[in-house]
Amino acid sequence: MSESWEIKNFLEIRNNHLCIDSADTVELARDYGSPLFVFSESRIRHNIARLQRAGDAIPCPLKICYAAKAMSTMGILQAVREAGIDIEVNSGGELWKALNAGFTGEQIIFNGTSKEVWEIENAINAGIYAIQVDSLYELSLIEETGKRLGKRANVSLRLVPEIESGTHSGLQTAMLTSKFGMMPDEAFSAFHAYKDSPHLDLCGIHLHVGSQNPDPVVYSEALTMLFESMVRIFKETGIRLKHINLGGGFPVNYLRDEDRYSQEHQPGQDRAGHQQMLSAHFEPFDAIRAAWEQVRLKSTVTGSEHLLTNLTVLLEPGRSIISDAGICLTSVRNKKSRPLTESNIELHEQLAKAQRSKQKAGISFGIVDYESGIVSHGLIDEHWLLTDAGFNILLSMETYKWYYDLISADRPSAEHNFPYKVAGPLCDGGDVYFDIEGMNRLPDHRLLPENLKPGEVLALLNCGAYSLAQASQYNGRFLPAVVLVCSSGEVKQIRKRDSFEDLIANDIY
Ligand SMILES: Cc1ncc(COP(=O)(O)O)c(C=O)c1O
Repeated sequence: MSESWEIKNFLEIRNNHLCIDSADTVELARDYGSPLFVFSESRIRHNIARLQRAGDAIPCPLKICYAAKAMSTMGILQAVREAGIDIEVNSGGELWKALNAGFTGEQIIFNGTSKEVWEIENAINAGIYAIQVDSLYELSLIEETGKRLGKRANVSLRLVPEIESGTHSGLQTAMLTSKFGMMPDEAFSAFHAYKDSPHLDLCGIHLHVGSQNPDPVVYSEALTMLFESMVRIFKETGIRLKHINLGGGFPVNYLRDEDRYSQEHQPGQDRAGHQQMLSAHFEPFDAIRAAWEQVRLKSTVTGSEHLLTNLTVLLEPGRSIISDAGICLTSVRNKKSRPLTESNIELHEQLAKAQRSKQKAGISFGIVDYESGIVSHGLIDEHWLLTDAGFNILLSMETYKWYYDLISADRPSAEHNFPYKVAGPLCDGGDVYFDIEGMNRLPDHRLLPENLKPGEVLALLNCGAYSLAQASQYNGRFLPAVVLVCSSGEVKQIRKRDSFEDLIANDIY
């Protein structure tokens, strides 16, 4: 029977090991060391093709710009480019990386709230498709820069649509209370003020409704808002926009094994909203088709269908392209046991059952269990596993209490029924895979095969997005190596593990 996290021809059990595109993850961890990020080129392509299908739902061109912030190791940017889509960047640094990965100016859009003049200059010189403007002040800076360079900048104004999406509060980007974009009235005044500027081509409008949006309806609200803005801009200024940008935010189902997720959590406490957000799943095609239908009807009623011809629709998804294409392999480095301190009856009954069965089998359970090497403090102990993957490489586990499915790569088909407290290697009490805030957003325990030992390899699934991209060398930890399993089957190393020298590369002493 296949496991619920398995995905045919991608993430599978072969020869009793977890394999990604047929590559044996235990061998990869042995060859490249752990922690190790492993990405699948085929899965990246699969995810891109799924988004491209959304283009069939609309009668005009769909331009998909991969949100580089999700993961921008050069080998990944190249794989994305070779898959045939364009790119969204958020800084002069990401712009530089995109150009070096082979993207042309026409393929690049540039977001950001705090752009510096040198970044604007580089964007204009590269002739990028659109600088997405965050404020009226920034627009004046872009005009000034264009004038100084004797060039015309393509700009798109980022609007605050005031749409709430049901995602995590830190991932909401479309509200008045969020830091992004300008009020629609400000944008309309900008279209008036700059419509004849020889240094600005006001070619588009943009919004982003946040990341991991559980509700497809937000795309209908967002497209409607963009359309109504287009109509108003045309009526008031005569400007016919060339593009509208719906942002990213399509969700990834992080809870493929929802049963295990539920068993790992404390019963009875309300985690419904968090769970719903993490398990969100819908087809971008369906969301875009519904959104377009609504706009088409409105355009007919208002006689503004003509504004939809020669229009390009942009999307800038990150998570839905790269998240489930990447896994993180981590080794158990240490283990210990502690007397049980909490009163989590259901989960600990499970634990007690597992331990009682050992007692029945005659395994000593008094002070030291020699077979497992675990010291026992009482009848019921909590068993701890300490891994080499902490929040220095999986920051959202700490900041957003993000759940990544954790399975044994060595023994993926063994029953995952033994509860462990799992924690990372950092000298920080928050570096744990379990709930310490009492909100039940992270699980209480992780269910893994019984009797796990140091040296065994575990896999955190769906963690290709916003992981390595946000990583730090906190505690002097080396940033991990990354390998890409190419569509050809070749395993290509696309990032080497940091060295001692990398830890001090920019220190002056
Ligand atoms: C402006 C903008 N565009 C695109 C994205 C990508 O979102 P996602 O990775 O959820 O698709 C983000 C991420 O928050 C963003 O802020």
